[in-house]
Amino acid sequence: MLLFVCILGLFSATSAAVVPKPCCAKHQMTAELVQITGSYTNGTPATVEAAIKIQYDYDTKMIKLEQTDGTTIIQDFNQTQQYTISGKSCRKDKIPTDLQLQPPCVPSNATYRGRRTIGDDVTYDVDTWFIADTPWGNITVSVMAHDCTPVMQGTSTNENNVVSQTTVFYHNVQFPTLAATTFQVPQPCPGH
Ligand SMILES: *[C@@H]1O[C@H](CO)[C@@H](O)[C@H](O)[C@H]1NC(C)=O
Ligand SMILES: *[C@@H]1O[C@H](CO)[C@@H](O)[C@H](O)[C@H]1NC(C)=O
Ligand SMILES: *[C@@H]1O[C@H](CO)[C@@H](O)[C@H](O)[C@H]1NC(C)=O
Repeated sequence: MLLFVCILGLFSATSAAVVPKPCCAKHQMTAELVQITGSYTNGTPATVEAAIKIQYDYDTKMIKLEQTDGTTIIQDFNQTQQYTISGKSCRKDKIPTDLQLQPPCVPSNATYRGRRTIGDDVTYDVDTWFIADTPWGNITVSVMAHDCTPVMQGTSTNENNVVSQTTVFYHNVQFPTLAATTFQVPQPCPGH
């Protein structure tokens, strides 16, 4: 009887100790995203799949998104400008000042959903977090426990008769040092 109680006590102490703090990844990141959105608009279903290569620098507040159709979008959150480049054409638009580049972090108010592993011979711990009611919807995100590398992110929304679920898979995530030239915009790039 006594032993049983001891084991329970140990067990709960151990599981309380593993609740991690919301983490941050490095400030420069490159990744290939596969994004799948499923939605119902007034009961009509639709799915959209997109593959996007991203280069992200939180220090200079720059992000570059390369779509498979050859369109490149560069967002400069410091100058609040977005550049859309397609072939030889370039267009400049203002980014609304209330939109900000998101830090590479699990928000501090996220709720921990637990730890699982991926892999077999080599395993990695993956932590899952939930963030309710963000401006984008409810977000569930899974990150590598050891360095906060994003693995997967899901966003669900239900607004104006549109129910949608977006899932993003993070492939080939790397943390290189990105040169400023990565985010260079061809000149001239006319305003819109
Ligand atoms: C943002 O732009 C200002 C003015 O051009 C510049 O001085 C500053 O270094 C930039 N900040 C970052 C984080 O790049
Ligand atoms: C958590 O923080 C995010 C971003 O800071 C905010 O948008 C959201 O409303 C917060 N959610 C809760 C439940 O406090
Ligand atoms: C978002 O999360 C809250 C709290 O768990 C839940 O009540 C709400 O239904 C969720 N909304 C969507 C669109 O999933």
